[in-house]
Amino acid sequence: MSPEDASGDRVVHATDPHFWHVTLNPARLAGKRALGMANLVLRRRRHLRTDLAETFAREIAATGAGTVIVSGDLTTTALEEEFAAARTFLDALAALGPRPLVIPGNHDVYTFSSARRRLFERFLGQYLPAPELPARILLPRGAPVVFYPGTGPNVITSRGRMDRAVIRRTAELVAGAPAGRPVLLVGHYPLLSRTEAYREAWSHRLPRAREFREALAATGRTVLCATGHVHRFSLVNDPEHSALFHLASEPLFLRRTVQEGAFSSILCSPAGFSVSRCLRRDGLWDTMPPAQLP
Ligand SMILES: [Fe+2]
Ligand SMILES: [Fe+2]
Repeated sequence: MSPEDASGDRVVHATDPHFWHVTLNPARLAGKRALGMANLVLRRRRHLRTDLAETFAREIAATGAGTVIVSGDLTTTALEEEFAAARTFLDALAALGPRPLVIPGNHDVYTFSSARRRLFERFLGQYLPAPELPARILLPRGAPVVFYPGTGPNVITSRGRMDRAVIRRTAELVAGAPAGRPVLLVGHYPLLSRTEAYREAWSHRLPRAREFREALAATGRTVLCATGHVHRFSLVNDPEHSALFHLASEPLFLRRTVQEGAFSSILCSPAGFSVSRCLRRDGLWDTMPPAQLP
């Protein structure tokens, strides 16, 4: 064990895997899914190499991380086949050692029918951190992690959901985490609608994000908020609250010119967080120099 491992919990933040399955069955192509399927056939299929899932499970396990957090969008159009593929991937990870923890993203409740049939819970429920969100858990070496919800089916836009009761409850869970430990906060939607790396349109944002950040800042705790959804890597200090940090990670299977996949590695210790962006190139994972927070 390296000295780093002795000092904290190592987490792989792998988000937005977007397992996909193409269906041309008209009965399953109603409403928003028809749009999603067109997008999938045209674009995502080339950029999201989910056929590498088994390989990635082995490579992620080989990092020695004790926990793998998937912050939503495990599927693309919330089809049963997509949930089944996500489940196979998480089972493979779990069999190799790390504990997978997942929360839903907007694509996992893509249609009212998938939400009503509780497909996410049925296929992936065993990897939810708790039956209801928000929830707080402690990792094996004591790092507190709080998960917040933020999604619901939405026929027209990709906008999230956030109400005041959830904000209050999440802030209480952060405030009540063991003293002297910075808190890792996990959600699907980022709490900043723009950084240098991305800009979210109104239709893709989390409502009440400003209010949420204020509630978090009022806890007086150091918080690293790890999210997905924007499909960009971004790590910034909050422009208004010095104890808040925001990490957005890229989709796990995202393929770009020289990149074959991405995740972030987070070491959580009593002193703070050490965050590295990891990119797969030519079959090998490169780890960028870590940022130390605070
Ligand atoms: Fe996504
Ligand atoms: Fe999303």
